[in-house]
Amino acid sequence: MDNNYVAPPYRIKMVEPIRMTTRDERETLLKQAGYNPFSLRSEDVYIDLLTDSGTGAMSHFQWAALMQGDEAYAGSRSFYKLEKVVKDITGYAYVIPAHQGRGAEQVLLPRLVKHEHMIFISNMHFDTTRAHVEIAGARAVDCNIDAVLDTETYHPFKGNFDAERLVNIIKERGAENIAGIIMTITNNSAGGQPVSMANMRAVHAIARKYGIPVLIDGARYAENAYFVKQREDGYQHKTIREIAREAFDLADIFLMSSKKDGLSNIGGLIVIRDDTHLYNECRTHIVPMEGFPTYGGLAGRDMEVLAVGLQEALEEDYLRHRLDQVRYLGDRLRDAGVPIQYPTGGHAVFVDCKKFVPHIPFDQFPAQAVVNQVYLESGVRGVEIGSFLLGRDPDSHQNLEAPLELMRLTIPRRTYTYRHLDVVADAVIATYQQRNDLIGLEFEYEPPVLRHFTARLRPIKKV
Ligand code: F0G
Repeated sequence: MDNNYVAPPYRIKMVEPIRMTTRDERETLLKQAGYNPFSLRSEDVYIDLLTDSGTGAMSHFQWAALMQGDEAYAGSRSFYKLEKVVKDITGYAYVIPAHQGRGAEQVLLPRLVKHEHMIFISNMHFDTTRAHVEIAGARAVDCNIDAVLDTETYHPFKGNFDAERLVNIIKERGAENIAGIIMTITNNSAGGQPVSMANMRAVHAIARKYGIPVLIDGARYAENAYFVKQREDGYQHKTIREIAREAFDLADIFLMSSKKDGLSNIGGLIVIRDDTHLYNECRTHIVPMEGFPTYGGLAGRDMEVLAVGLQEALEEDYLRHRLDQVRYLGDRLRDAGVPIQYPTGGHAVFVDCKKFVPHIPFDQFPAQAVVNQVYLESGVRGVEIGSFLLGRDPDSHQNLEAPLELMRLTIPRRTYTYRHLDVVADAVIATYQQRNDLIGLEFEYEPPVLRHFTARLRPIKKV
């Protein structure tokens, strides 16, 4: 194992104080939050690993760019700067900004749904992507490889599509019923796992054969490119930009939540290779939903920041440190015997809570119990990705059982130090040592949709 974790390729010039709480305070705070850390105030969180979305630190180049925002409603200079950067990176012709990833999804995805009973196929749909597929009247079908479910076994590209299954699904449903194939890179829900170039090439060839458009859901496309460089033969001597471009050459549309690899606090993108008709349709629809096509819900200063951030996120030194931080946290946990999705992915360590607390059944939310205990131990906030998030079957109203019960420890970009990650590791390891004492949760209040955001829970008392 490579234990050489690289030091940050930056120094710190501005700091934001964070506050440690006492164990007693956290007992009260968590109870008040209904045993749901989404309801905690961030100032009551010591190290916040809820998400890597919009939570990163900006460079001084980005702060300087922010001052140059052109806030014109139409034809903003900042838009043209952003457009040029995005065209250079992707090689695509058309760029429309959106306020964030889901803004891009709500404008673009319905344009591809031409009739009833259509489906999108993805290596794995992210929640909001799935939601917008369904709102558009289509259905979302996941086509991941089985290796994803085996958290212990190494696979260099656990985010891959199962190409054989992809062909079978297309044949079963009929190509005319497939609205699009969505390549999520990296594959967030699978553990931030990368997709290989060979797999993307295979998927692209299948899509071409059947005349189906290919979309990249590329919130973390730069991290994916770095994994390709590290792990796939033939890419060691290519630049991250070249690798990213090769991936874009295998798709028609790029949707991006630029709160991740855009290194900005807000922003999204719709980028279209050459389909002028589709571009015109999106330009029309974005106006009532996000805003005029040269700002799409962003301030001019946000577009300036994004134009710089997109380029910084492709720097190899930056990516090496970023992925080393994730790997470091993963290695510390694995060395202590804590079960995690292995190898670690790009943006987070995913702790396998089915193995952590096997005595807690899925409908008592094992990963949520672990998340809560880690907060009590240390003030660190992770997030549950499992049956609590998945919700109920819309027809039978039964709790759905997620294939994996995960606690995601998501690492914001350029924000925390390795020493912070030690605090996180120590808290998770301490929780692991008490795992047999952890108990399940039940609802005190369950909202009808997207319940994990606002639900109130309570521990189930042992009888
Ligand atoms: N696609 C992927 C792969 C994502 O991870 C996200 C967001 C989105 C789309 C939606 O973008 O949040 O800008 O509207 N993921 C965040 C997360 C929220 O915590 O993983 P958004």
